[in-house]
Amino acid sequence: MPAPESTLLQSWHHNAQSWIEAIRTGALESRLKVTDQAILLAVQGCQPEHVLDLGCGEGWLLRAQAERAIKAVGVDGDATLVEAARAAGSWPVHVASYEELVEAEVDIGSDYDLICANFSLLHQDIIPLFAAMNALLVPGGALMIQTLHPWTAAMGDYQDGWREETFVGFKGQWQPMPWYFRTLSSWLNALDMSGFRLVSLQEPQHPQSPVPQSLLLVAERRD
Ligand SMILES: C[S@@+](CC[C@H](N)C(=O)[O-])C[C@H]1O[C@@H](n2cnc3c(N)ncnc32)[C@H](O)[C@@H]1O
Repeated sequence: MPAPESTLLQSWHHNAQSWIEAIRTGALESRLKVTDQAILLAVQGCQPEHVLDLGCGEGWLLRAQAERAIKAVGVDGDATLVEAARAAGSWPVHVASYEELVEAEVDIGSDYDLICANFSLLHQDIIPLFAAMNALLVPGGALMIQTLHPWTAAMGDYQDGWREETFVGFKGQWQPMPWYFRTLSSWLNALDMSGFRLVSLQEPQHPQSPVPQSLLLVAERRD
């Protein structure tokens, strides 16, 4: 049986076209109402000059940053998504899997003052990737992560482990995606173990929703 990690990236190869459609037609209500704005405000709050969008997908956050005169570089493991980002005007956007980034097999630049990952950290073995990203930051640079809120996503089972997203309710052809659920302490420990210090934690929430839509962490490189 293939490892969930390889099935995960493979699912993005399969789902790329449907994902582009979903994002560009505004099909994800929580993004429109809460989480897009949350990460954009957080990025602007850091006043970065040189940003890496890790797992940039079809590139909406690259375009939003370019509109705000922020120089942003993208990287993603799926070539179709990267091509869509480039075709929509973003440059440079690199194709590289997280495994390749850990092994430094692809040059994606360095001296970033901010690396952001918007719902793109879905695999289990996250510490080597954090450590590799740490090395691409300037001293005092920051890693920003927006992810599913652990308490909202836990569904009564609050422990680290693989789950499956089946994309029920999404239009188009989707292949189920394995993803790794992580508790809050698991996120914080992984950051700590890869040389980061948490500087901010937000729980973006819509006023009419009883639960937070995401968890937004900012951690600075410990020098
Ligand atoms: C939910 S999408 C988020 C995309 C984008 N950040 C956004 O906000 O729309 C997750 C992204 O993570 C990327 N990804 C997942 N696992 C990866 C891996 N092992 N290596 C590289 N990219 C990966 C996928 O290709 C996909 O673009």
